[in-house]
Amino acid sequence: MCGIVGYVGKNEKKEILLDGLQELEYRGYDSAGIAIIEDKQLKNFKAVGKLQNLRDKTKDYASEGFGVSIGHTRWATHGKPTELNAHPHMGAYSFVVHNGIIENYQELKDELQAQGVKFLSQTDTETIVHLFEKNHNINNNPWKAFQDTISKLEGAYATLLITEADEETIFFAKNGSPMLIGFNGSDIYFASSDTPIIGKATEVYYLEDGEFGYAKNGEIKLFDANGAKSFSKQPLATDKAMAQKDGYRFFMEKEIYEQAQVMNDTMMGRLLDDKIDFEELDENLFENITNIKICACGTSYHSALASSYLFERISKIPCQVEIASEFRYKEPLLRDDTLFITISQSGETADTLEALKMAKKAGLKSLSICNVDNSSIVRESDAAVLTRAGIEKGVASTKAFATQTMVLWMLAIYVAQAKNSIDSELLKKELDAMRHTPKALVVDEKLHTKMTRLSKRYLHGHGFFFIGRDIFFPLALEGALKLKEISYLHAEGYPSGEMKHGPIALADAELFTVALMPKSLHYDKIKSNVEELCARDATVLAISPDSFDLADDFVKTKYDAHPMLEFFEMMVVTQLLALEISVRLGNDVDMPRNLAKSVTVE
Ligand code: F6R
Repeated sequence: MCGIVGYVGKNEKKEILLDGLQELEYRGYDSAGIAIIEDKQLKNFKAVGKLQNLRDKTKDYASEGFGVSIGHTRWATHGKPTELNAHPHMGAYSFVVHNGIIENYQELKDELQAQGVKFLSQTDTETIVHLFEKNHNINNNPWKAFQDTISKLEGAYATLLITEADEETIFFAKNGSPMLIGFNGSDIYFASSDTPIIGKATEVYYLEDGEFGYAKNGEIKLFDANGAKSFSKQPLATDKAMAQKDGYRFFMEKEIYEQAQVMNDTMMGRLLDDKIDFEELDENLFENITNIKICACGTSYHSALASSYLFERISKIPCQVEIASEFRYKEPLLRDDTLFITISQSGETADTLEALKMAKKAGLKSLSICNVDNSSIVRESDAAVLTRAGIEKGVASTKAFATQTMVLWMLAIYVAQAKNSIDSELLKKELDAMRHTPKALVVDEKLHTKMTRLSKRYLHGHGFFFIGRDIFFPLALEGALKLKEISYLHAEGYPSGEMKHGPIALADAELFTVALMPKSLHYDKIKSNVEELCARDATVLAISPDSFDLADDFVKTKYDAHPMLEFFEMMVVTQLLALEISVRLGNDVDMPRNLAKSVTVE
């Protein structure tokens, strides 16, 4: 997804921009560009594809002395990934970068074109720079021209603009897309998330929707609809070490191995001797709540779905789960005795954020489960529980899913405690199982070697079914999603009992079935479903603590004392399977094609 970096100061601007954009690479992009004004000279470079292409193009350029600069990684929304469509977009004497979508761009573009303005790109963003220059040509006042411009924009944006008409200033505005300002002495940085400025800025201010202003002479002037406003900076995190690869081949691999460790962080201070406690939650949050609704997308949706079984079984509270992009437009009937939970790794997913805003508008209490503090979803929610997974760089989510699921499991128990719906024996059993979870997540080298070996048999065929029952059905969905994201092979997750209602028609030796066969939950039921597939000659990879003679391949798991332990152990197996198939196919594991880490457009 698009990323923004900006800098105003005396340091080498090209390197600051390129290094910053590099930090945003993991979000996914298809082109990149930078624009710099120094000594009244405007320079602009763009390249399609990886950032290295932009580095190659700029290798003979260095920017010394005071100046202003903006950079962008683009993930195509309006118009193909071409150099012309890459940001920064250019007018006659100004440049702009933008994240989000300008919904009324066509109307603005038509107006400008009717006045003779020529557009070079197919993007919505280009309208911003032309509108700015049109306003400036009328009033000869860059700040007023910028304000007039943003007052015309509808939709979501985080935008930076530089212009030769005021060559020491960066103009900025934020509405609906993330943007922050970093400070270090008189140096000022802008970015769409904090990773590009960690190690450079020491303090940060996270812009709110509707805020805009400009950076000049080492100072920020901030405004909103009510006029000038003050703001407080906060210290910026300094630890980037966690975000490095630590000797693993891929971030995804490192993140799979990290799960055992980060799970301890997730549970710390929350899993107590005899209960679950979330000190960040106010007990009133659950007052008068008789129902839970969860909204999320992708992998986060899968953790939500798994938790719905736990909320109903353990907390005895009705729980519905919805895909955020569907929820937004179905005109949902919402009741204020419903707790609205959103789940998001990034905290910036546009559909989830909008679903949350709708629920809030309808008067529902809201809780977010998120990996990124200060993200838009966290700030928008009444309460938040952080998953504490650390920065996740692999586009295919792994440790974020594991920690979301753990938080939700803990939350199900927390709600059960609050509602007195759990007896002491079950509570003890759940807490004991939780304590063992990090062990179930440790990647056994022998298992990894086995998955590497097995993967060579699964590189072709006409598709994969991942099947499971109960909480293993969402895990099957997640296993299939992981595989298709990074292998580009077709994979589907199915409830195993549903196969005979249609999908079993596909069964033959070229249909690969990954069967999740936990011992502690409905083993006999799933066993007979898998036998039905074996009888039709499907190729079966069974994952289970109990041997299963009919399987073509078998992975033996160890932790069968509790369904959640089996869940986490099997999750690791499916992650390694996807990873090793992708490696054999020669794909880009960390940055799979067409995908973005943070989906800030609907
Ligand atoms: C898959 C994946 C995506 C995200 C989805 C929601 O590996 O990462 O499916 O889960 O785009 O993103 P978040 O959780 O950031 O809201």
